[in-house]
Order: sequence, then structure tokens, then C-alpha cells
Amino acid sequence: MSERIFVAVAWPYANGLLHLGQIAGAYLPPDIFARYHRTKGNEVLMVSGSDIHGTPITIKAEQEGKKPSEVAEHYHQGFLKSWQQLGISFDLFTSTGTANHAEVAQDIFLNLLDKGYIYKSTVLQSFCPHCQRFLPDRYIEGTCPYCSAGVARGDQCDACGKPLNPVELIHPRCCLCSSVPEFRDSEHFFLKLSAFRDRLLSWVKEQTHWRQNVLNFTTRYLEEGLKDRAITRDIGWGVPLPLEGYESKRIYVWFEAVIGYLSAAKEWAKSGGDAEKWRHFWQEEAKSYYFIGKDNIPFHTIIWPAMLMGYEGLNLPYDVPANEFLTIEGKKLSTSHNWAVWLPDYLSRYDPDPLRYLLSINMPETSDTDFSWRELVRRNNNELVATYGNLVHRVLTFCYRNFDGEVPTPGELDGQGQALISKATDTLDTMDELLYRCHFREAIRSAMSLAQETNRYLDDKSPWKVIKEDKKIAATSLYVAISVISCLRTALYPFLPFSSQKLSEFLGFEGSVEDDGWRLHLPEAGQRLMPPEPLFSKLEEGIIEEESSRLGAPTN
Ligand code: MF3
Ligand code: ZN
Repeated sequence: MSERIFVAVAWPYANGLLHLGQIAGAYLPPDIFARYHRTKGNEVLMVSGSDIHGTPITIKAEQEGKKPSEVAEHYHQGFLKSWQQLGISFDLFTSTGTANHAEVAQDIFLNLLDKGYIYKSTVLQSFCPHCQRFLPDRYIEGTCPYCSAGVARGDQCDACGKPLNPVELIHPRCCLCSSVPEFRDSEHFFLKLSAFRDRLLSWVKEQTHWRQNVLNFTTRYLEEGLKDRAITRDIGWGVPLPLEGYESKRIYVWFEAVIGYLSAAKEWAKSGGDAEKWRHFWQEEAKSYYFIGKDNIPFHTIIWPAMLMGYEGLNLPYDVPANEFLTIEGKKLSTSHNWAVWLPDYLSRYDPDPLRYLLSINMPETSDTDFSWRELVRRNNNELVATYGNLVHRVLTFCYRNFDGEVPTPGELDGQGQALISKATDTLDTMDELLYRCHFREAIRSAMSLAQETNRYLDDKSPWKVIKEDKKIAATSLYVAISVISCLRTALYPFLPFSSQKLSEFLGFEGSVEDDGWRLHLPEAGQRLMPPEPLFSKLEEGIIEEESSRLGAPTN
């Protein structure tokens, strides 16, 4: 029976280029997951969009002397191009700047206000006496009250991951001039998170399928008690409050950004011509998965679920498979120090599949992992080119030349051949289980071990020698190898969609790999092959030096 799978992907701030940390953390995993489920024949909706509001965007706009909307539009267009080049297959990648989004966000705001889950109160708001302005959360820094890190921002501490209110900071200072800010009264709306604590705690305790780090973090957080949080700001850039008299305020960016998951589903439904279809994923039986980096955990396991519980009638997250961080050449990634590999840079010079491969086989699922150019070159050359690509190439060119461009007709399979074919179907079954549970790293590893085993089988059978004495025996081992290759095209499709599709065509299959289903589709004897070309190319050792030297270099 087919399932409904809602793939919700973190909304990137439209204030900078995408880097590999984000890709490994939040964008590649959902794409693998969505492609796998589509291949299984499940009904998938995968959405996200640009997060264009709040101080992350206004700070950038101020720096560049542009309007926030110009900054957002510029990076949004860049995101769209990157998704296409990297093959991140969103059903919709929209933005929080649409009228639809504002409407949905305001509806939730009013609904929660109505039920008393949002209330009005005054807060102390930081004001810099030197700069003569109210300071948005991100303009204020200080020591984290939870973990004592020295450089927590007013909205969040990156060291311990806790969301913060600026007043909680110890030794606060203005980011612009380092003066000590004053705190002045300002009227704001608050989300009554405290009212959801017990419900959240018992809900979270049932989520035994969550990753350990996500479960631990969330439970610890809830056990410490939940504080109500201000969900409006004195800022001019954002979704307006749906109330009169608050024209100088906007809804807090985090409160409305998470609503994007719902508003995007509605937009997708409308643009597909069936405006009610979002309900399939939100109000009927469906599983929703939220793919995020670990710094976003509390917003997705506490605040968003609380909002949904308050609103009622919408599906809660089924899983939040948050990833850990990617380090770059052994050091913590830092966009401000340009210690990052920028996705558009990568894509302007190299193919997408080698990157997808490295980030999959080395995915930061349970601990931080490292990206290095040496590792990219090594894995590309030794694993994609030498193991998988070479297997495909030697089998297909040999068949193409010696069997009239057709899949050879096998004789009876011996035990070894049968064992290898059943290993291929077992691999698909194992991967099915692993992918279903978001164990991407292990899944791709089992596909690669099948490729290795097929190489050993071929070395052993040596059809290139045997063909001189007995063409039928050679045809049989080649047929076995082609069958496993057909399996690999499916098994590796979620990870390496470009090369899998190409391979599918070399094998003489029509249509997309996705439509062929998650199964071993044995090629027909006599099926016409296409003239094969290498699936991957070697990367020169020289790029290691060349690319590493770009790291940390000042940008313009
Ligand atoms: N823009 C945020 C970030 O990059 C993520 C927002 S996820 C959302 O950290 F769901 F809230 F949109
Ligand atoms: Zn100041």
C-alpha cells in the first residue's frame, strides 16, 4: 500500500550563498529520501523556500546598501539555480515573501490569539544609547546564561543551541558599537509555550524512532521548563500583524518561517489546480519528516509542534532527522572567515554526483564529519571511477562490442551467479529498511559493497578470456553482471541521480529510473544497449592544492 510522505526541508536565509555545511546537513538528505520514496511509488511532497525576513536579511541589506527585498530576491534566484544543478528535487521551493504565506501565518497568529495561546505583554527591549536605536536580537551579544559561552547572540547561542531572549544575556553589548545596551519597555505578543510543556513532553517520549541526539536535546530542554517567547519585533521587514495599531511591528521571523511548511503545501496545492490537496499531507494519514541542521532542533521539535498543538487538526512531525555539522579540512566551518566551500563555486567547476557521493558516504548523521578536497578526489577516483564506474564500463563496452550491442543471452546460472543476484535483491531490501529510517550513510555503503563484490565476481569469471573458448559461459557471467548493474542503477539513484539516469539509458531502459520502481528489474536478453560512455571522470590531484588555497582567503 502506498504511503504519503511529507518532506519538509529547512528554509535557508536568503542572505548569502549556500555552502556545503548546509547541503550535508539539510538539503541532500531530504532529496535522497524523497527520491527513494518516489521510486517506491509513495506519494511524496517535498517543499521549502527562502527565509527572507528578519534581521539576517536586514543586516545584509544594510551592509550592501540595498533593499532587503533585493537581497532576498538575488539569493533566492541563486538557490533555485543551485537546486537544479545539484539535483535537489523540490516539488516547490517558494519563499516567505508570498501573499499566501502572509495569509497562512496571520491565520495561525489569530487562531492562537483567540485561544489565549498568544497574549500581549510588555518586554524589556534592548536599546543602544550610543547608536540611539532599538537593537534587533542579532545586534546584541553577550555571555550565554545556559552554557556560559562568551559570544551568544540575542536570539540563540550557537555553542549550546538554545534559543534566547536578549534580556537573558549576561554582560550584553551592542554589536555595532560595543556599548552596554539599556532595556526599555515595549509591548509585544508572546507565545504561551509554557502551556504546552506537559503535552510536548509526553509526545516527545513516544518518539522512540527519533535520533538519539534529537531526542536527548529535546527532552533535556523540556525538562528544564519552557519559557513563553515574544513572537513580534520592532522591525519593518517581515509579515505584518493582522491587528490594527501595530504597524511598526512585525511577526518574529522564526514564528512565521516554520509556518512556511504549511503555507508551501497550500501554495503547491493551489498551483497544481486542486487547492484542497494539501490536506492529504496535513490532515490525512501521512508521515512528515523535517530535515534540518542540529542548530534548528528546538524550533522543530518544540516551538512548531506547540504551535500545531495549539492550532489543532494538523499533523505533528513524525520525525526530525537533524544532522550534525560538517567541518571543512578539519576546522569548524565559518562563513564570516570564508572557511567554507560555496556550492555555486563547486558547481561551476565540478559535476554534482561526486559531491553527492562524498556527502552521502560521509554524512554527519550521528557525529560531525569532515569535508576535505583530498577525500573528494580520493573517493571519486577510487570508488566512483575505479570501483563503480569501471565495473559498468568494462561490462557494457565488452557486451556492446561482442554481443552486437545487446544484452547477452545467458545459459544456466551457476551457484555463484545465483548468489550474486540474490545478494543484489537483498541489498535493495536492506537499503529499503535503512533509507526508510533515514540511515543514508549505511545505505550507500551497502550499495557500494555490492559493486565491489560484482567486480570480484567478474575477476573470477573473466568473461574476456572465457569468451575465446566458450561464448555461452562468458554470456552468462556478463548477464549476471548486467543484472547487478541494473540493480545498482536503482540502488544508487537516490544518491547519484544524474549518473543513474545515464546508466539506465546505456542499459537500454526507457523513462526515468524513478518510474521503474524499487526492485531488481532484470534486463531482457537481447535488450538493445546504447553506446556506453564513462559514468564518472577522474579528478586531478592538483585540485587539492588549488581548492584548499581558496579556503579562508579574503573575498573581494
Ligand atoms: N532560516 C533558518 C536557518 O537558516 C532556518 C529556518 S527553518 C524554518 O537557520 F522552518 F523555520 F523555516
Ligand atoms: Zn551601539
